[in-house]
Amino acid sequence: MFKFYAIIITIFFLSLSQGLSFEQNQTILSFQQFFSNNICFHEQTSLNQLHARGIDVNDYKKYDIDYGDHSKVEPIQLNQDEYLVGSKLGSGKFSDVYLGYNKSNNYEKILIKILRPNKIEKVQREISILTKVNSIENVPKFYGITVDKYYQVPSLFFEYIQGNTLKNIIQRFNEIDIRYYSYILIETIYQAHKIGVIHRDIKSANIIINHEKRVLKVIDWGLSDIYFPYSFNFCKIGTVNYKAPELILTDSYHINITPAVDIWASGVIIFQMMINSVPLIKGHNSYTALLDIIKIFGYKDVMRLSSWSGIPLNPQIYKEIQENKIYTEKGKGLKQLIDQDNVKYADPLGLDLIDKMLKILPNERISAKEALDHPYFDKIRQIIQTQRKNQNKKKG
Ligand SMILES: *[C@@H]1O[C@H](CO)[C@@H](O)[C@H](O)[C@H]1NC(C)=O
Ligand SMILES: *[C@@H]1O[C@H](CO)[C@@H](O)[C@H](O)[C@H]1NC(C)=O
Repeated sequence: MFKFYAIIITIFFLSLSQGLSFEQNQTILSFQQFFSNNICFHEQTSLNQLHARGIDVNDYKKYDIDYGDHSKVEPIQLNQDEYLVGSKLGSGKFSDVYLGYNKSNNYEKILIKILRPNKIEKVQREISILTKVNSIENVPKFYGITVDKYYQVPSLFFEYIQGNTLKNIIQRFNEIDIRYYSYILIETIYQAHKIGVIHRDIKSANIIINHEKRVLKVIDWGLSDIYFPYSFNFCKIGTVNYKAPELILTDSYHINITPAVDIWASGVIIFQMMINSVPLIKGHNSYTALLDIIKIFGYKDVMRLSSWSGIPLNPQIYKEIQENKIYTEKGKGLKQLIDQDNVKYADPLGLDLIDKMLKILPNERISAKEALDHPYFDKIRQIIQTQRKNQNKKKG
């Protein structure tokens, strides 16, 4: 009996010393909140509602979207017995990713994404988006799915891409590489936007580069969504350092998420390549990330975003702006982040492009198509076209 009480008392003190003091900056949620936070809702809205919130309903026209065939897509059903599961390569909120082997093709490497329990609609949406983006050159091929007979767990099968994440290879780029990979990244995003798909989680960990073969692939379309100009989404998605300001500001509001969120994230990445460094926005949660954005881009535009979207700024942010001198109206700007070590890559045309991609208001951000036409890419466009002609000749 004494032993029993001793254990109880020990547990009590252990929990007092470790468990009960929650970290200030950690989000604590009920299970229901946790699950609903991770799922995106679409809410149909009326033109009047959009007008009332200052949203230009014609804005979507600049994306020139062709949604294509809406009919239900049936993914290819693969036979699980023909594959083997190897080591775990990564794990996320919604899935674990494993290296797999194709038994009937000399154990060729493939990628298997084993899904965690989720709403069936979300799984269906992911599959339908994967099928849509499957024709894009720089997206890993989606081969099909299996559903385990006993455990009912769906697995998605993909092409295995040999390479490094951009994060790990960024130090090796020269000026031409930066231009080249920036172009391919924006082009891939343009091709997705053109068919109505927003990636929504563009970050350096989701870009795989095989530098020897000069191949760039945009991976993980699991958080992607179809862009509907007339609907509001509600979801907390993406990685805070790459999140567009409208997503940070509207953390718990319904907003109309546009393709411009991918442009912001790509702008952050291209700047990261240019200054050969860590992400531009260093905050580790929405609050500190927004302050970081204000520090660089100024509070004037963030306030404009707030009135444009009808979503008030956190009063605490106002207080910071008023009290802390590092927050100015125009911000310290991107140029302040360029120093002697990285200035050699900071091409003025490149900075002009980044400036247009990193506009605080999403409707003022350049579209992917416009970005591809930017003079920064004049040098590289010709090279890429010649390279593609030669590849086609070889193939043909
Ligand atoms: C919380 O804040 C502390 C100190 O500011 C920081 O070291 C830690 O990484 C933060 N934790 C998370 C989960 O953001
Ligand atoms: C596995 O190999 C077989 C035989 O080459 C092929 O038909 C099948 O498409 C491959 N599976 C995947 C997922 O690539």
